[in-house]
Amino acid sequence: MKVLIIGSGGREHAFAWKLAASTHITDLFCAPGNPGIAELADVVPLAATDLPGIERFVRLNAIDLVLIGPEDPLALGLSDRLRNAGVLVFGPSKAAAQIESDKWFAKEVMRHQAIPTADARTFTDPLSAEEYVKARTDPIVIKAIGLAKGKGVSICQNPTESLHAIEIMMRKGRFGEAGKRIVIEEKLSGPECSVLAFVDKRTIYFLETAQDHKPVDDGDTGPMTGGMGAYSPTPVVTPALLTQIERDIFVPVVDGLLREGIEYQGCLYAGLMLTPNGPKVLEFNCRFGDPETQPLMMRLKTDLMEVLLAMCEGKLDQISLDWDHRPAICVVATSKGYPGEYPTGIPITGITDADAMPDVKVFHSGTKFNGKSLVTDGGRVLGVTALGANITDARRRAYAAMGKIKFDGMHYRKDIGWQAL
Ligand code: AMP
Ligand code: GLY
Repeated sequence: MKVLIIGSGGREHAFAWKLAASTHITDLFCAPGNPGIAELADVVPLAATDLPGIERFVRLNAIDLVLIGPEDPLALGLSDRLRNAGVLVFGPSKAAAQIESDKWFAKEVMRHQAIPTADARTFTDPLSAEEYVKARTDPIVIKAIGLAKGKGVSICQNPTESLHAIEIMMRKGRFGEAGKRIVIEEKLSGPECSVLAFVDKRTIYFLETAQDHKPVDDGDTGPMTGGMGAYSPTPVVTPALLTQIERDIFVPVVDGLLREGIEYQGCLYAGLMLTPNGPKVLEFNCRFGDPETQPLMMRLKTDLMEVLLAMCEGKLDQISLDWDHRPAICVVATSKGYPGEYPTGIPITGITDADAMPDVKVFHSGTKFNGKSLVTDGGRVLGVTALGANITDARRRAYAAMGKIKFDGMHYRKDIGWQAL
């Protein structure tokens, strides 16, 4: 079969790495891809959001199945468009993608279905938002309603910080239209985890658990990023807790969407906080997480293509996933300044040495080949991922591999996986 992956990050590199090993695939393409992906697939110079261009490519090349990685093309309706063109697509419809692309839509579904989440209000007018936060002396969380690459969340300890966040989002338009409407919610506390499931209408199949690290610096300090590292599995999610998460969160959200006439088909990701009052939803994503996918793909033993086909053909109830029992950990290296402004075009060395280590894989996120050498081309540059006999071993190997890689201004967290130790 001919398969096209949409996206250019570490998540898509991990998909490409897994799919390149599939016996069902004759031709693997990726749009737009990156230099790491180019070693495994034919990269196509089309932006992930170029819907007409992608449809044309799919028709011209008789692509059988498209795997959509990032949220933007899903929110724009790429999967609807390709399904209408008669192609198998892994990724939810535009309507279903609202669970991520519109945080207020997600809150409304959760409210109707009594799904545990932080109490929240929405604001479209900066003046009313400012008046409201002046009276909130408790810590609160301010979120852009639309898509902001994981950066549109501010945790504010007092009204001064809240006013600053509103200024940046609503008045200065840091996140464009996505931040013109905001959600203000209570700050929850507890350990976090990412729970991902394949969902097809009413069938829900959980992947192994994972944990992301969103703040840029050690000890979970500094501004929010798309994710600085992840590991799988996370010991905080016990089988009993997963049963509770299925009953109280996944089943009601899928039902709530069905009540709105929306059938969810794809990966549904719940970012959860395990509060003293039980698990509560921080956010839903309509896709796999980045970087959670990197350790998950290192651990998945089943042929990913068989899973995608089963999903696309409505046979999710007939699959069973086989996982490596060893944990995996991914540490992300970023450009100096990320998640703010950062330089690009800086030469990177050492990837080949790191990649040569057993059970280590370096996934590219923001890299580019400039004709001579590999250079940085994004905020998140690489995700060094390793399997180990236990989490301590996986960590040691990931950091040993990271030690071989160098570029000017390189930053990475030194404490990925600390909660699991
Ligand atoms: P989100 O993109 O909504 O998952 O938020 C990004 C990160 O912000 C989460 O991973 C949490 O660390 C933090 N966060 C979001 N909402 C809350 C909340 N209500 N209380 C505490 N932390 C939160
Ligand atoms: N790692 C968080 C996300 O993919 O949104």
